[in-house]
Amino acid sequence: MKTTRPIAGILLALLTATVRAADTNLPALVPLPQKMALLPGRFQFQQSTEIEMDPMAASAGRYLSDQLRKSTGFRNGRFVNDPEHPRVRSANATPHNSIFLTTNAFGSQTNQAVSDLGAEGYELEVWPNVVHIRASAPGGFFYGVQTLLQLLPPDVFSPTVVSNVSWSIPCVKIEDQPRFKWRGWMLDVSRHFFTKPEVEQMLDAMAMQKLNVFHWHLTDDQAWRIEIKKYPRLTEIGAWRKESGFNLDPKASTAYGKDGRYGGFYTQNDIREVVKYAADRNITIVPEIETPGHATAALMAYPQYSCTGGPFTTDLPGGVFNGIYCVGNDASFTFVEDILSEVFALFPGKYIHIGGDEVTTNNWHDCPKCQARMKKEGLKNDVELESYFVRRLEKFINAHGKTLIGWSEIRDGGLAQNAVVMDWVGGAVEAASAGHDVVMSPLEECYLDHYQSKDTNAEPYAIGGYLPLGNIYAYEPVPANLPPQFAQHILGAQGNEWTEYMPNLKHVQYMAYPRLCALAEVDWSPKDSRDWDDFVRRMAVHFERLRSRGINFRNNLTKGG
Ligand code: ACM
Ligand code: ZN
Repeated sequence: MKTTRPIAGILLALLTATVRAADTNLPALVPLPQKMALLPGRFQFQQSTEIEMDPMAASAGRYLSDQLRKSTGFRNGRFVNDPEHPRVRSANATPHNSIFLTTNAFGSQTNQAVSDLGAEGYELEVWPNVVHIRASAPGGFFYGVQTLLQLLPPDVFSPTVVSNVSWSIPCVKIEDQPRFKWRGWMLDVSRHFFTKPEVEQMLDAMAMQKLNVFHWHLTDDQAWRIEIKKYPRLTEIGAWRKESGFNLDPKASTAYGKDGRYGGFYTQNDIREVVKYAADRNITIVPEIETPGHATAALMAYPQYSCTGGPFTTDLPGGVFNGIYCVGNDASFTFVEDILSEVFALFPGKYIHIGGDEVTTNNWHDCPKCQARMKKEGLKNDVELESYFVRRLEKFINAHGKTLIGWSEIRDGGLAQNAVVMDWVGGAVEAASAGHDVVMSPLEECYLDHYQSKDTNAEPYAIGGYLPLGNIYAYEPVPANLPPQFAQHILGAQGNEWTEYMPNLKHVQYMAYPRLCALAEVDWSPKDSRDWDDFVRRMAVHFERLRSRGINFRNNLTKGG
């Protein structure tokens, strides 16, 4: 049951945080916008408040209207110029108290070029009678709306109506756009399965912090989660284990099939719905199909594409295993390419993640086909054989208009021509200096499966490591030793959530939040605006927003955890 939270509670949260005097009056936005100034007065949301939008802003306008209806009970869905709601201003509508989402300059602006905001930038002006959001693309409108929602009391994120709240916001002028274009979060759904509604709830949470890339780690040794029509055994067999594994309490998870097996998968219909859900929140999904290693689940279903012929089992602990594709067999390429063809059709985004990490090559040594391939292609060692595999896949991926992305190890033996590197154990400087784009997700700074505190006994069991909130907040994605002319190749930073020891959604959320809020600020806000005390002040309010959304989080705002 939702209870009303008095405004005083929020003020108290503001007052108890240590803050720089100059910042205390500014709204507690996360991530911090580029430029923000308070204006006199307040805007009061009412039952009669109209939302008017250009067609470009239709999706963001509907999102705003839906969220307001859920939490305030106001029915503000008066859409003007919305192709899906061809309604027109009603005769008795007040001309004042309106929210405009428009590509045009507002009254207070000179004739600025709209393009200077970029695809995700926006301007927001709040006056006592009117709110203006200007952007030049749907993503910018969506973020203008997110900021507008954060100006409201945190209860606005509630899924049900909250009464006795004054739905008013301070007048402000905000000009904002992200520092980086890749603001990512990776979820491993192989070690444990998370349902479509659970994934969608996490997309909602991402959107609150303006994160825009969901890297969906769909396959690994312990399970295969995406329906592939041509190879039904991938999910009939590969999506399941005998038990939840990892020495966990079997009752900590609910992902059991009707037959008692542990696991689950997404149908292609599920995937299409999640892709749409994400797109409505300005989130691109990057699917990962792990190759040539971490492929045990696929090879349990189709062992003929391994070097040994199997058998394989998904009932594995954490670690690195011999479930790798046979690179000497052309049929393995056909298999992977058939799978990728179905993946291309489901995910409209540009990037296809092919994994590439932690390949154990023992099987290749003992395989006549792999050895013959090496001889024929003049490959000197295992890493050159892996490089051959990745380059061959890249040709296929590029021919379908997509870009290959892979983990650090895809550099070994020679990086494929147009590949993007996801740096988890190095290679960013070398790749970016050679003109490749890079996503930063280093093990030490971006791994959300690591402990949040040194007091590990007080924390849920984790894989190891130590990544307290202060460290992720202090992270700088552009490597200090990267020559500045290559800095534009650093697309942004991403938090990786490997779920071996996270068998349920609440646990996933606990490990992600608040660390993803810190990462969002690293990815979005200007580098020189980072200020730990001010972040803590704003996060105290942001915790209320997460609570309203029903997102679990580690309720601790100390730097060292
Ligand atoms: C990884 O963490 N193995 C990419
Ligand atoms: Zn082989």
